[in-house]
Amino acid sequence: MDIDGVRTQIPLLANTVYLDSAGAGPPPKIVHESMQSFLDEWRDNGEKWEAWLLEIVKTRELFAILIGAKLEEIACVPNVTSGLAAVATALRIKPRQNIVVSELNFPTNVYIWHSMKQRGLISEIRVLRQKDGQIPLRDFEKAIDDKTAAVSVDYVSWINGCREDIANVAKIAHSHRALMLVDAFHAVGVMPIDVHQLDVDVLTCGTYKWLMGPHGAAFLYVNRKILGDLDPSIVGWHGISDSVIARVLGKRDTFGKPFDLDDVDPAKDATRFEWGTWSVISVVGSKAAIEFTLKYPPNEREPLIDKLTTRLLDGLKKKGRKITSPLEKTRRSGIVTFEVADAAKVAQKMQSEGVIVAPRVNTLRVSPHFFNTENEIDAFLEKIEFT
Ligand SMILES: Cc1ncc(COP(=O)(O)O)c(C=O)c1O
Repeated sequence: MDIDGVRTQIPLLANTVYLDSAGAGPPPKIVHESMQSFLDEWRDNGEKWEAWLLEIVKTRELFAILIGAKLEEIACVPNVTSGLAAVATALRIKPRQNIVVSELNFPTNVYIWHSMKQRGLISEIRVLRQKDGQIPLRDFEKAIDDKTAAVSVDYVSWINGCREDIANVAKIAHSHRALMLVDAFHAVGVMPIDVHQLDVDVLTCGTYKWLMGPHGAAFLYVNRKILGDLDPSIVGWHGISDSVIARVLGKRDTFGKPFDLDDVDPAKDATRFEWGTWSVISVVGSKAAIEFTLKYPPNEREPLIDKLTTRLLDGLKKKGRKITSPLEKTRRSGIVTFEVADAAKVAQKMQSEGVIVAPRVNTLRVSPHFFNTENEIDAFLEKIEFT
């Protein structure tokens, strides 16, 4: 891959050593330009309702390609939390059933379940605790039983970069007829993902990290085989069978026929989880970001990221740093964390010198993307020498 050519398309890299794609990816020019031309067009011509609706469909389509899904399995939602919440609250949970989650999850993927428990919708939440930065598969085996309604796990942990063995956790979940839900925010754009091969039931992902898009748009994949088993707790006007998007796609006038107010008929596909109007500018930016990702696909990105994290880990080991990320190849990702006294101060000092990393509790989180270079890793390692 022509990395120099890629870098010229990402303006922020010209004067910054950017090692925080797990926080927010730096936008490529095409993402910025697509959002800018949306703004210009909006200023000059106002809302382009039907054309904008088609942008939503096109973006769903591209996300489906990225994760090996079918269009009907994708919903476009405002953020990961709302996507996950839409599905969590649609599960048919029976009395005395439990939910299994991991301590390595982002808080959202734990709070949603606690809040449902507080409302009496779930009897028990089983939070698996890490051992040496990971959850052993046997702990999933012990925790998941015939009373488990769903297992909800982050593919890659935000806090230490541990890559979960999703395919095997899904196998365990399915052997007990539990659903497998995955937050893949730190995986999509880093490693190739095929949802049908992984055999997950639900997957969520936003665009502002490794996909290098804006805030305000995310995607929800729901396996078509389980769509009919989920009852949305809320249905909005974009989540019905006869939605305005369905009308546009059917070449019908979006407001040519009254909406049926005597009943509600949720869409048969994953769009039943889309509630109200999208932040179209965010979707337009996300579309450009996914196009950019597909141009430099994850199967070519993964070895590049692996090379950079290996160099980083080797350098940190040489300096005697305590690494808090798993070291086994199968458990590694684009995120490397290690202990630092006063991480916030170190990150701030580095930022003032043009090196961007993230302080997380008592660790520094370094997350190189495929566009980073070995020289940048070395520049970071040099700086860490003095902390
Ligand atoms: C794994 C993971 N999931 C979800 C989120 C937040 O998602 P959102 O704000 O889109 O709901 C983050 C944010 O850092 C994250 O790291």
